[in-house]
Amino acid sequence: MRVIIQDNYSKLCQWAAHYIAAKINAHKDGRPFVLGLPTGSSPIGVYQELIKMNKAGEVSFANVVTFNMDEYLGLPRDHDQSYWFFMHDNFFDDLVDMKAENINILNGMTDDPEKECADYEAKIAYYGGIDLFMGGIGVDGHLAFNEPYTSLASRTGVRDLTTDTRIVNSRFFDNDPEKVPAQALSVGIGTVMDSKEVLILINGHNKARALAATVEGGVSQKWTCSALQMHKDAIVVCDEAACGELTVDTYKYFLDIEKKERL
Ligand code: GLP
Repeated sequence: MRVIIQDNYSKLCQWAAHYIAAKINAHKDGRPFVLGLPTGSSPIGVYQELIKMNKAGEVSFANVVTFNMDEYLGLPRDHDQSYWFFMHDNFFDDLVDMKAENINILNGMTDDPEKECADYEAKIAYYGGIDLFMGGIGVDGHLAFNEPYTSLASRTGVRDLTTDTRIVNSRFFDNDPEKVPAQALSVGIGTVMDSKEVLILINGHNKARALAATVEGGVSQKWTCSALQMHKDAIVVCDEAACGELTVDTYKYFLDIEKKERL
């Protein structure tokens, strides 16, 4: 696993956006570039940077197919907290050449969640798998909505959200955890692990324990993000604020070995 440490959130976002754009631009094998995408506050700065680059003609999304990580169960698309709404509001609507038919987001209003999830996996396979999955993680280390103790081999399916996650996410639901849906549809840890590359954004003091668990802890279903240690091409890009729980050794090691990446 590579760990790229940047001074602050803004540099983290610049680095991640340029990394993703370079991958899209270098992709020349004829089939579309398949990009996995997250929601949450962590990716917002990356989306803004990619939009800027797209408008400046530095990266095109015309040949990009996207798959989002997750969606709340029971929220319609036009609910302002659905991930469908979030993605269009914060990203897709501002791109000049993203094709609506290339956007894939799990349908939280499906009346057959099992079929919805199986179809999603089949569609990812149809496109030849995900080239690059960008993700964030929760304070408890959840990746997509794979809460602690979700199988590290899990595939796309229905997830029960923990009380902790509903409390954390209640900031978007009038600070009322009861208003946060109790379930979501989510890609599995196995789905993310099958991607050719994974890029995880971790910023802020509140993610310090999760960053340490991702990088230094043992691989454990308690911290589902730790599965990434078994991925052959995983990158974590983080800011200084998130490094507070890393050992000094680990921190210095990555600063040194990745010094060319520091913005
Ligand atoms: C939600 C999403 C995750 C996301 C996490 C962190 O629970 N399902 O995919 O990574 O929030 O969000 P934030 O970036 O706002 O901290």
